[in-house]
Amino acid sequence: MASRPPMIRGVPPVYIPMVDLRSQYLDIRDEVLAAFDEALTGMQLNLGPNVQAFEQEWAEFCQAGHAIGVGNGTEALHLLLRAHGIGPGDEVITASFTFIATIEAIVQLGAKPILVDIDPRTFCISPERVAEAITGDTRAVMAVHLYGHPADMDALADVIGDRDIKLFEDAAQAHGARYRGRRTGSLADGAAFSFYLSKNLAAYGEGGAITTDDDSVDDVLRHLRVHGSLEKYVHRYVGYNSRLDELQAAVLRIKLRRLEAWNQARRAHANRYTEALSGLGDLQLPVEEEWAEHVYHMYTVRTPRRDDLAAAFADAGIGNAVHYRVPCHLQKALAECGYREGSLPETERAAHEVLSLPMFPELTDAQIDRVCEVVWEALA
Ligand SMILES: Cc1ncc(COP(=O)(O)O)c(C=O)c1O
Repeated sequence: MASRPPMIRGVPPVYIPMVDLRSQYLDIRDEVLAAFDEALTGMQLNLGPNVQAFEQEWAEFCQAGHAIGVGNGTEALHLLLRAHGIGPGDEVITASFTFIATIEAIVQLGAKPILVDIDPRTFCISPERVAEAITGDTRAVMAVHLYGHPADMDALADVIGDRDIKLFEDAAQAHGARYRGRRTGSLADGAAFSFYLSKNLAAYGEGGAITTDDDSVDDVLRHLRVHGSLEKYVHRYVGYNSRLDELQAAVLRIKLRRLEAWNQARRAHANRYTEALSGLGDLQLPVEEEWAEHVYHMYTVRTPRRDDLAAAFADAGIGNAVHYRVPCHLQKALAECGYREGSLPETERAAHEVLSLPMFPELTDAQIDRVCEVVWEALA
């Protein structure tokens, strides 16, 4: 059992944010401003050289055949499903314990989301529950790599077997995570990424991407994101306006060069948290399965005394967040799906117990130690 971290006597609590985007910006500011200047001087702002280069670099990083930059992660999910012909009458199985965008993409295509429970260790979709949910109308399973820990993709593929059911990844929280040595984005029939502000790889605005190995899906997606068109004013499909912005792509290229180091920093912070907090009463710490390399988008603990812990953080000026307090199957927006309290017990228990601690690459050891000190005070 780890010993309690030392008290910093006489020092008033410091404000420790959940995420500190400014300190990261200050580290890369000169490069970002120079890249903006170059892009604006070049004035090729519609799917210009930075988008094209980023797509290649992102595909390579993800060990995928293609990457297609789009407007945001929600549209990446929607376009991925649409490119595979998912629509009315189709069922898509996914987890309720996710950000609602995963499910919005399914609903907006007229397909039916089938929400299943999680594995309480990893918080990711349970392959056993997926097996029970498959019907003759199932067209796809959308695995969410929640908090940066990959879902058990081989187990999901085994459950699907040789049925005509696609397996997809919602990798919005897991840039660079590995499953049995392979990177997210290369683990299934296609993956959707978000580059929202606070993600492990984040734009300074909106951004998203889809990865796929399938040349024909790549071609459909390149049409769909620009009004179904690759030739000016000639439209093969009714599509969307969902381009990755050129300036955001310039930012993403600069940050991608640092992503591996930033993810390693997150892993080191997670180790420090885990060392300082293990053995503390009913507190459960994040698990990393032996087949996984977690990238700690979130360091999320669980305790039945979650609200007490959140209150202690608030008093001490420490940022924290609950992902997610109301699981999707109990959201009013999805009432028509017909779920009720008790439908997904592991998801509901997690929603009552989880709390995410400050986590970002620039977090200092002193900040981590202070967070741990407050956890001990609140729960010991
Ligand atoms: C799991 C998950 N899926 C999808 C999204 C949607 O991404 P975006 O905000 O870029 O639309 C997010 C992030 O916000 C997410 O966390």
